[in-house]
Amino acid sequence: MFCDTHCHLFQEYYEDLDEIINIAKDNKVTRYIVAGCNNASNQEVLSLVNKEGIYGALGIHPEEVENYTDADIQFIEQNLKNKKIVAIGEIGLDYHYTKENKEQQIKLFEKQLALAEKYNLPVVIHSREATLDTIEILKKYRVKGVIHSFSGSLETAKIYIKMGFYLGVNGVITFKNCNLKEVIKKIPLKYILLETDSPYLTPVPFRGKRNDPSKIKEIAKFLGEIYEVSLEELAKITNQNVAELFDI
Ligand code: NI
Repeated sequence: MFCDTHCHLFQEYYEDLDEIINIAKDNKVTRYIVAGCNNASNQEVLSLVNKEGIYGALGIHPEEVENYTDADIQFIEQNLKNKKIVAIGEIGLDYHYTKENKEQQIKLFEKQLALAEKYNLPVVIHSREATLDTIEILKKYRVKGVIHSFSGSLETAKIYIKMGFYLGVNGVITFKNCNLKEVIKKIPLKYILLETDSPYLTPVPFRGKRNDPSKIKEIAKFLGEIYEVSLEELAKITNQNVAELFDI
């Protein structure tokens, strides 16, 4: 049985979530960590975690930097006592569309890292075209976590691991012309977490369609070949990683 450690199972993407969950179960996916991005999705996370097998992360995504208020951060803090909230995320830096609000992004990121440190919770990191700043800022806080959708170099991977981070691997690894496979191959499985980032990043051979947690199976098959381990062994090790990081 697998855990999808990063997905966005929100109503705007999935009309019939129970069906999605049943299909996932048929594909041996029984646990989920749903990541919030803004106040509305954080509220939805809090209702989703009432379902069996669903855990949540609360956070303000860097792309929401222009929209959030301090009350949204307070809302996150007020709900961290919930036993099924297992992380702060997704949070981080994204310089893909613009670097102009870099200072505000860093401020938002640091506020949430401080919360993670205060409540001793792991962080789910979104870092896009911002590796150096992400590393510099993470070094200032005593936090552990996962680099969601890791796609950097081997050198970067090693730095993150040394800092106590896991690497989240999703459908991107199945894309053709992607050298992530060569990097991940050299990283021991004990640092890898499986994720789909549903509804985004659908793996081969389903590219172009909406992603869903059942596709963990495709990512697992792909990783099983890279690491030359059975799906059972892969599930066992990645579940140990989930237990170590998120305490579930
Ligand atoms: Ni995501």
